[in-house]
Amino acid sequence: MPALVLLGAQWGDEGKGKATDLLGGSVDYVVRYQGGNNAGHTVVVGDQKYALHLLPSGILSPGCTPVIGNGVVVDPAVLLSELSGLNERGVDTSKLLLSGNAHLITPYHTTVDKVTERFLGKRKIGTTGRGIGPTYADKINRVGIRVQDLYDESILEQKVEAALDFKNQILAKLYNRRAIDAAKIVDELLGYAEQIKPFVADTTLILNNAIDEGKVVLFEGGQGTLLDVDHGTYPFVTSSNPTAGGACTGAGVGPTKINRVIGILKAYTTRVGAGPFPTELFDKDGEALRTIGGERGVTTGRDRRCGWFDAVIARYATRVNGLTDFFLTKLDVLTGWEQIPVCVAYEIDGKRVEELPYSQSDFHHAKPIYEMLPGWTEDISKAKTFSELPKNAQAYVKALEEMSGAPISAIGVGPGRDETIEINSFLS
Ligand code: GDP
Ligand code: IMO
Ligand code: MG
Repeated sequence: MPALVLLGAQWGDEGKGKATDLLGGSVDYVVRYQGGNNAGHTVVVGDQKYALHLLPSGILSPGCTPVIGNGVVVDPAVLLSELSGLNERGVDTSKLLLSGNAHLITPYHTTVDKVTERFLGKRKIGTTGRGIGPTYADKINRVGIRVQDLYDESILEQKVEAALDFKNQILAKLYNRRAIDAAKIVDELLGYAEQIKPFVADTTLILNNAIDEGKVVLFEGGQGTLLDVDHGTYPFVTSSNPTAGGACTGAGVGPTKINRVIGILKAYTTRVGAGPFPTELFDKDGEALRTIGGERGVTTGRDRRCGWFDAVIARYATRVNGLTDFFLTKLDVLTGWEQIPVCVAYEIDGKRVEELPYSQSDFHHAKPIYEMLPGWTEDISKAKTFSELPKNAQAYVKALEEMSGAPISAIGVGPGRDETIEINSFLS
């Protein structure tokens, strides 16, 4: 089973970090293929808790080579500080590989991200403010700076000047901000060049060779399906493609090489930032999910919006990603409810709708239609097999599986590495 994609099936924060880390021990390469340090993955190993933003979660597994692919946007200051933070805790990061084609987030991208949000006012996206959107915009506009540009000073100068020519006009004339000095940016970037150099590699070649040799390669998505710029709740999305196709473009691996696509699915739903969310709760149940689930952003510290499980979204994730499996996380958080509502369809303008509407206006009007499933009160965090779960918890999982369109092959019953029930191996 050489190549697997693991991605978020909802709006991010489904527990991808834990899932990747869990497989990391049996995997040769873990590859980030999109996004940047907008991601926040928490991994709990024994009594140690790690918060990763840019680095692939596989960095915590000693045998595994972590790779930052061409589709990722890299803030070099964040990269170096995340690496040194791990080194101080005894984690060996020397195997990291970084694509020379990955684009760099510079201080002007974070500035533009923040001023744009301020300018949008109440229409803001609620971005993480990490410069993600403006960096991808420059990439598509062909005025981006790539990792490889750090090693040709005159090219770097020309590119930074070209990018800032236009941006400085906007910053000064539209946003009333001081212009950014290109020479200062070039100096700052050159200051990172030598420290980053040992990691820079032709990652596409290395990954394709690895797959051909039968090595196990895991592509780790940041964010989630509904935050995808093409398939998510646009414009309330991130500026990249977390969906399965993004793994191919963001790592330079053809779709024929991918064997399995695993969707990480929380047993309820959360979202950070603005945008529609049909099952969102504003009552004590929402507050309870937030408190019991520890639903606070790893990157920005914002409270996550919480709601019941939405099967329409899960079905949609199965469709647009071609999911072969689900990893259902945080089932333990639902312990204690007498009855658990699950959204099985929407009502839109008086009509029952089974599939996610393509129209943004329709989705904004979608009202959840709930089915009530019986809850359980037993502690499930020690369960090691499916049959050790209380009958009602088993029935909840089976109902979700039926509604979601792909088998649930693993279940998370706690944040720790070993708090997982494996049903079908992902690596067989
Ligand atoms: P990611 O962005 O998808 O990697 O997810 P985050 O790390 O942002 O958020 C998921 C949170 O849930 C983290 O705090 C994890 O430690 C925690 N977590 C993951 N799986 C489980 C689980 O099965 N049960 C519980 N209680 N917590 C979990
Ligand atoms: P992980 O990998 C949840 C959200 C932001 C905002 C929108 C755009 O931890 O699941 P951006 O800074 O990317 O331009 O913000 O996307 N967002 C996330 N929400 N989890 C994430 O990552 C996210 N990364 C971005 O809150 O609504
Ligand atoms: Mg997260």
